[in-house]
Amino acid sequence: MELRPCGTTGLRLSVLGIGCWEFGGSDYWGPQSQAEADAVVRRALDLGVNYFDVAESYNDGRSEECLGRAIKGLGRDRLAIGTKVSPANTAPATLVEHCEASLRRLGTDYIDLYMIHWPITPRNVPPGAPVPAAADAFAALRRLREQGKVRHVGVSNFGVVAMAEALGLGVAPAANQLCYSLLSRAIEFEVLPFCRAHGVGVIAYLALMQGLLTGKYRTLDEVPPLHRRTRHFDGRQSGTLCRHGEPGAEAEVNAALAAIREIGRESGLSMSDLAIKWAIAQPGMACVLAGCRTPQRVEENARATAAPLAPEIASRLSAATDVLKAKLGRNCDYWEAAANDRTRSA
Ligand SMILES: NC(=O)c1ccc[n+]([C@@H]2O[C@H](COP(=O)([O-])OP(=O)(O)OC[C@H]3O[C@@H](n4cnc5c(N)ncnc54)[C@H](OP(=O)(O)O)[C@@H]3O)[C@@H](O)[C@H]2O)c1
Repeated sequence: MELRPCGTTGLRLSVLGIGCWEFGGSDYWGPQSQAEADAVVRRALDLGVNYFDVAESYNDGRSEECLGRAIKGLGRDRLAIGTKVSPANTAPATLVEHCEASLRRLGTDYIDLYMIHWPITPRNVPPGAPVPAAADAFAALRRLREQGKVRHVGVSNFGVVAMAEALGLGVAPAANQLCYSLLSRAIEFEVLPFCRAHGVGVIAYLALMQGLLTGKYRTLDEVPPLHRRTRHFDGRQSGTLCRHGEPGAEAEVNAALAAIREIGRESGLSMSDLAIKWAIAQPGMACVLAGCRTPQRVEENARATAAPLAPEIASRLSAATDVLKAKLGRNCDYWEAAANDRTRSA
C-alpha cells in the first residue's frame, strides 16, 4: 500500500489508516472482542496499512488498551500509532500525565503522532474548567518529543485560527485530523487549503460517514439514532442527543447518495470503494481513516487503495455532492451549529 509523507516532519502513513474508536466496545459502536481487534490489526499490517488511530477519550481508554494488546509482539517499527489528548488535559503537568497514561494503555514507549483532539478553547473544555494556554501545551509537547515519548506532534479539528496559532508556537504540527468525506466537505473552503499551503498533512476521519457512504443503510431512517446527530440530519428530532438544532439536509444527502450509487453502478465500484478512492485522490490528503471492526472490512477498504480513481469519476463524485456541500456550509463541526463550531477559536 502507498505510504505518503504526512506533513514535513518525516512521518509517513499508509493512505488507508484503521480507525480504532470501535476497539474496546461501547454503546455507540456495540461490542468488539479483543480477538476481533487482534485480527483487524494483523490483517491490516499484512495488507500494508501502518497507521492505527485512537484517542484517550475513546471508550474511556479501552480503545487504547485494546489496540495495545493487539499490537503486542507484532514489531513496533511496523506500526504508526496516533492518539489524542483532550484539550482540557493540556496544561503541561497534566499533559505529561495523560501522555504517560496513553503510553501505558498502549503498552509502548513512544507515540508516533500525538494530537490535541480539539482546539484549546473554552468551548472544548468542561464548563467552568480552566482553559490551558496553547503556548504552554505546545511547549510541553515539544519536551515530550525531545524525550522521545512522542515522535510527531499533531492536532485535530483545528480551524485556521487555531492552526495559525499552533504554527506560530515553534512546534509545527505534522498533521491536522479533520472530518472529511464526500458528504462532509467543509474543510475544502478554508482549512484544507491552509494545511496544504503550510505543509501540514491532513488525516481524514469519517471518510465513510459512519457507514452512510458504504451502502449498508438502504434509507436514512435505518441509521442508528446515536449516529444521526450530525448536521446531515434534522437536529430537532427527539431522542438522538442531537446538539446542533438545525433543520438537516436529508433531501440533499439522499440526492447525493443516489448519484454516487449511479456512478458506482456505471463504474463497477462499490460505494465504499468510491468514498475511499475519492478521499485519497484529494490534494493534501495524507491518510484516510476507516473504522474497521472485522478483518473483512479491512480487506474491503484496503482493496479500494489498490488503484486510483479516474479523474473523470472523481470530478463526477465531487459534482454529485456540491449541492450538499453548499447546504452544509463552511462549518467544519458536523455536530454543532455554526455559532458553536468547536473548530473555530472565537
Ligand atoms: N479526530 C476526531 O475528532 C475523530 C472523530 C471521529 C472519528 N475519528 C477517527 O476516525 C475513525 C473513523 O471514523 P468512524 O469509525 O467513526 O467512521 P467511518 O470510518 O466513517 O465508518 C465506520 C463505519 O463504517 C462501516 N464500514 C467500514 N468499512 C465498511 C465497508 N467496507 N462496507 C460497509 N461498511 C463499512 C462500519 O460498519 P460495521 O460496524 O458494520 O463494520 C462502521 O460502522 C475513528 O475510528 C477514529 O479513529 C476521529
